Amino acid sequence: MMKRHNQIVSPKSLLLVNIGQLLTLRSHPGRSGPRRGEELRELGIIEGGAVLCVSGKIVSVGKSNDALRDPWVKKHRKKLVEIDCSGKVVVPGFVDSHTHPAFISPRLVDFEKRIAGATYEDIAESGGGIRSSVDAVRQAGKRLLADKVLAALSEMSFHGTTTVEAKSGYGLSLDAELKSLEALRAAAAKWPGTVVPTLLGAHVVSQEFQDKPQEYVALVCEQMIPQAAKRKLARFVDVFCDSGAFSEEDSLKVFQAAQKHGLSVRAHVSQLTRTPLERLLRFTPASLDHVDHVNDADIALLAKSDTLATLVPGANFFLGTEEYPPARSLIDAGVAVALATDYNPGSSPTASIPFVISLACTHMKMSPAEAIAAATINGAWALGLHGRKGSIEPGKDADLSVFDVADYREIPYWVAANRCDTVIAGGAIIRSGPAERSAPKRL
Ligand code: NIG
Ligand code: FE
Repeated sequence: MMKRHNQIVSPKSLLLVNIGQLLTLRSHPGRSGPRRGEELRELGIIEGGAVLCVSGKIVSVGKSNDALRDPWVKKHRKKLVEIDCSGKVVVPGFVDSHTHPAFISPRLVDFEKRIAGATYEDIAESGGGIRSSVDAVRQAGKRLLADKVLAALSEMSFHGTTTVEAKSGYGLSLDAELKSLEALRAAAAKWPGTVVPTLLGAHVVSQEFQDKPQEYVALVCEQMIPQAAKRKLARFVDVFCDSGAFSEEDSLKVFQAAQKHGLSVRAHVSQLTRTPLERLLRFTPASLDHVDHVNDADIALLAKSDTLATLVPGANFFLGTEEYPPARSLIDAGVAVALATDYNPGSSPTASIPFVISLACTHMKMSPAEAIAAATINGAWALGLHGRKGSIEPGKDADLSVFDVADYREIPYWVAANRCDTVIAGGAIIRSGPAERSAPKRL
């Protein structure tokens, strides 16, 4: 039985065989929690591997020879869709645990100003930055916004991503934030991957509330959060806790309101200046993201917690900052790190996890194995989806990406290239074959 929707093929049973390197990222018996330290390097590689998926789930994982001798496979072989992965690498579909796709236009003026020497903060103070993306989002219909989100999701999956955390945050009014979350939901319904929606009403204080920021915080806490929770439009609440955005006190209010309404929390911290982490960590955020300006005491606190530190080097690269997050100190101290694109129009307009993995290797000295684990199993932990995503193990969702490379280290090595060849999400084949046959439509 085969279901077809546009170009997407959803076979009932799918067998990937002859896999050159199958990166299972399987867990060790008796070990739970996100990967830390040495564990981040354990990819659980099977050479000559096979993966059998039935009804959108992974059913068995092992050697190709064994899979082909299996009585069930022998009996059903004619009905199986078989993908020959000789000479290729198969990884768990990437989990991009930090993105901002609900925007309309690129910010080209900011881009040029920064090239001419302005900083991210200078641009924000002179009317550019996050606020300059707001008018277009407020004016847009939900349909256009959803189309933009869907185009971004398609581009992400084109690079091997099958799970995406997606934030609102360019509406900054009750209506426009809820509309952004609805657009995320509408786009998610058309995309075979998994979308985890996050309310980021507390991105910056909107223009109208510039002189009364506390009233804006109250709007977020008393209206946006309760309504998003009631309408089940968001799973997480995020806050940008940094200079020029929200203070620690404001962020704690946002976390309290989220907790009261049953939503989990995460935050942007220490991107531009150091954010105090101790009180934020008491809310057990799933993740604290950016973490550029952390000191030893912050690192020790993070290491003791189950909160992921999600590093987004695409933002450092695109903003041209000289310093990158201190990945080595974080990993060596036992902090559980994840990697994400931070896809957004201001600081990181890239949908490519492979590119982010390259940056992690070249600029943050993470090994290719550490970077791949950070963008798969630890990304899944950063979203509370570790039971379903992030590794290739029986019982998990059939989310798999095939790369046309012989060795997994080539994924970051061929920098800014896209060697992703086939992408499967929930058992549906989203893209198959060379890039020219399956390039996503641009808006
Ligand atoms: O993660 N830091 C806050 N938010 C985004 C930037 C958003 C924008 O500039 O549009 C970030 O880098
Ligand atoms: Fe961000």
